[in-house]
Amino acid sequence: MTTARLLADLAEVVGPAHVLTDPAVTSAYCTDWTGRWRGVAQAVVRPADTAQTAEVVRRCAAAGVAICPQGGNTGLVGGGVPPADGRPTIVLSMTRLTGVDDVDVAARAVGVGAGVTIGDVQRAAVAAGLDFGVDLASRDSATVGGAIATNAGGIHFVRYGGMRAQLLGIEAVLTSGEVLRRWRPLRKDNVGYDLPGLLAGSEGTLAVITGALLRLVPQTRRGAVAVVAVQDPARGLAVIDAVERAGLTLHAAELMTEAGLDLVHRHGQRRALPAGTPFAVLIEVAGADAGDLAAVLAEASVDDAAIDDSPAADLWALRERHTESIARDSTTPVVKLDLTLPAGALGAFVATVERLAAAAGVRPIMFGHLADGNVHVNLLDVDPAHAEDVTDAVLREVAAVGGSISAEHGVGRAKAPWLGLGRDAVDVAAMRAIKRALDPAGLLNPGVLGL
Ligand code: MLT
Ligand code: ZN
Repeated sequence: MTTARLLADLAEVVGPAHVLTDPAVTSAYCTDWTGRWRGVAQAVVRPADTAQTAEVVRRCAAAGVAICPQGGNTGLVGGGVPPADGRPTIVLSMTRLTGVDDVDVAARAVGVGAGVTIGDVQRAAVAAGLDFGVDLASRDSATVGGAIATNAGGIHFVRYGGMRAQLLGIEAVLTSGEVLRRWRPLRKDNVGYDLPGLLAGSEGTLAVITGALLRLVPQTRRGAVAVVAVQDPARGLAVIDAVERAGLTLHAAELMTEAGLDLVHRHGQRRALPAGTPFAVLIEVAGADAGDLAAVLAEASVDDAAIDDSPAADLWALRERHTESIARDSTTPVVKLDLTLPAGALGAFVATVERLAAAAGVRPIMFGHLADGNVHVNLLDVDPAHAEDVTDAVLREVAAVGGSISAEHGVGRAKAPWLGLGRDAVDVAAMRAIKRALDPAGLLNPGVLGL
């Protein structure tokens, strides 16, 4: 079947207005947020619901056309954009699946479409007197489907876990066009393989997620935030430990460096600590106020801290403005490496990356989710011709000290060549077997994950 014939068929399924082919319109769907990953697609197809999604998948599979599922296109590893190798591909944009069911307050659960933003899940939960356990800076663009596909983590991972931990159920279209639906708001349901958990982190390579039944959590009505100056990450971890040992509930614990704080300051954010602070840790606690947190920090001999009752938007802005400030400041697409380090290796790793970056003539800005050992290494001004070399050097260092090459952003296209640094041969073979079983023709997000 010709591509033109397929696109005409798909227009019958979703309506002609939702099969986009004008390059001026489709280029935004084919380029990732960082501008580093660009692909090619014959069309962007925008189904309205699960039935249309299933029909689109069935027809593409019959025609042998690859499918790149996409949510808010806020991913940072090139996993949401089509391949650049010219194979016939459509981008399957899921942003029209925006249904939000009534919140089931007794079961603390809500069913939503894949195109609902994380911010809209939070608002639905709060309106029902509850909250959603995942939060991230891109909350108003990132969609539930994309966040599940990447198993996104975010700032409250330390308390509630990532997207996988929020899944009570899932709805997804298989390459056969059949709809897999597990949709019961049960906390314990141990019948066979954890398929929702498998689809979390599958990066669009196993099925197209159309909806999810999400766990909700009680609201945190009282909280406090401190930005604490520390000499090194180890001292930051010691302060976090002191806060938890004092009985406060840790809601977030984020690492920043002098270079990152200087950068967000240059991009307009007021300082909370004096310039020259080598590291800073943002700590948020739940169920306590600024006075309670100040007392615990004094007990832990912290001498420089800015403290406020939650939501403390100005303190959080110091952390949340890192990503956009980095993107605006770099002269080339930022090389973003999201990593986990064993707690004891963090300080030495930061120093090693600074050395590697100096040797490569690039600017490093590091920040991340300290309590999870999750560091976001951002390399600015990297000549695109050297992006792979510098990535290789950093990822090999991570593997050498027992860390993970992907903490919460996924593997995508960015890290696919290094999959073997993160998983051994038996593990990769088992993943390949799963991929073959669910997508025998290799049509779902080819090139992503490197399987
Ligand atoms: C964050 O923690 O802000 C996100 O993972 C985004 C990023 O790494 O830039
Ligand atoms: Zn992050």
